[in-house]
Amino acid sequence: MYKINENYQKLPGSYLFSNIAKKVNAFSTANPDKKIIRLGIGDVTQPLAPAIIEAMHGAVDEMAHAESFRGYAPDLGYDFLRSAIAQNDYRARGCDIGEDEIFVSDGAKSDSGNIQEIFAQDNRIAVCDPVYPVYVDSNVMAGRTGTYDAAAGMWSDVIYMPCTMANHFVPEFPEETPDLIYLCLPNNPTGTTITRAQLQEWVDYANRVGAVIIYDAAYEAYISEEDVAHSVYECEGAKTCAIELRSFSKNAGFTGVRLGFTVVPKELKCGDVSLNAMWARRHGTKFNGAPYIVQRAGEAVYSEAGRAQLKEQVAYYMENARLIKEGLSGAGYTVFGGVNAPYIWLKTPEGMTSWDFFDYLLENANVVGTPGSGFGPSGEGYFRLTAFGSLENTKAAIERIKNL
Ligand SMILES: Cc1ncc(COP(=O)(O)O)c(C=O)c1O
Repeated sequence: MYKINENYQKLPGSYLFSNIAKKVNAFSTANPDKKIIRLGIGDVTQPLAPAIIEAMHGAVDEMAHAESFRGYAPDLGYDFLRSAIAQNDYRARGCDIGEDEIFVSDGAKSDSGNIQEIFAQDNRIAVCDPVYPVYVDSNVMAGRTGTYDAAAGMWSDVIYMPCTMANHFVPEFPEETPDLIYLCLPNNPTGTTITRAQLQEWVDYANRVGAVIIYDAAYEAYISEEDVAHSVYECEGAKTCAIELRSFSKNAGFTGVRLGFTVVPKELKCGDVSLNAMWARRHGTKFNGAPYIVQRAGEAVYSEAGRAQLKEQVAYYMENARLIKEGLSGAGYTVFGGVNAPYIWLKTPEGMTSWDFFDYLLENANVVGTPGSGFGPSGEGYFRLTAFGSLENTKAAIERIKNL
């Protein structure tokens, strides 16, 4: 008789966004005349930039002719994309990262879920609290998190690093020493970040205690402040202790196109064993390459026209962020984020729980956001709004909230 992976049975309830979807569906069925504005899920709304569409059309046409048709892509990514990434995202910023340290994938969700596979099961993970749920859940599936305390919303073997108003959302070194440290900066869900100097302290800490930082930089394109690092490799010593995850979803609107990459430096070694070689082996075995058409679209992100168009797209969303932040502050809310990230993190008013505020906003303003407690116990009492809506919807949502 077969047995299942019992770790899956430990996962509590359903995924945050399915709970939200259920509540929103029930509300809209009961109130078919109400126009709901969704500022909940971090999905983009603007169309792909013209330079990207043009590159995709070109690649589609290549597929129509035997001479230019492409089958399986190289497992680790086409050279044209890996070198565009190494040049533009790293060397142009003074980070010495080579093409062969870049692994092209179908997005940062898969990479952030898969990366734990190359580490031993008894590694202790540390996560910020609140946190992007994939980091924890993928480690639950792997059996690395111990037992779940439903009342506390915490796993016995996970080290939580609370990020709240009290510490200005800056994670502190934990009392217990972790082996793997997940850092997402700029942060989803809080929309906050840390300075380059603070990140350097984390890199020094990881090197000192022999931990690996899994650095999720999915929101790098939204950084507006000078003293914030775009890559962990801007910090000295990061190549011996950090893996970086990147996505084309938020900087270029590829949430439905699917493209991302992971950087595993060659200097990152456990004894004599190269993590770069391990990840190459894993990628080659379990992943058959991102589609050619999509990789050509990714290359266009780095073209002159692509860069200019995407700068505008990011500015469009950041204008939404500014409107939400200013609108809510003006209405008396305490708000964070929205400067280096497309997320606004607000304190729920009058001690409401995150889910109470979710219901209140849905029922009275017909606006959907995300309850902070869905991202971890320290998210209780907070609420996330995203700047990824249309300008029109964002303005309307803020007006409705102001008028409550
Ligand atoms: C922190 C973080 N990492 C990764 C992802 C997923 O990125 P991708 O679309 O590339 O899978 C998201 C998406 O919301 C995210 O917020």
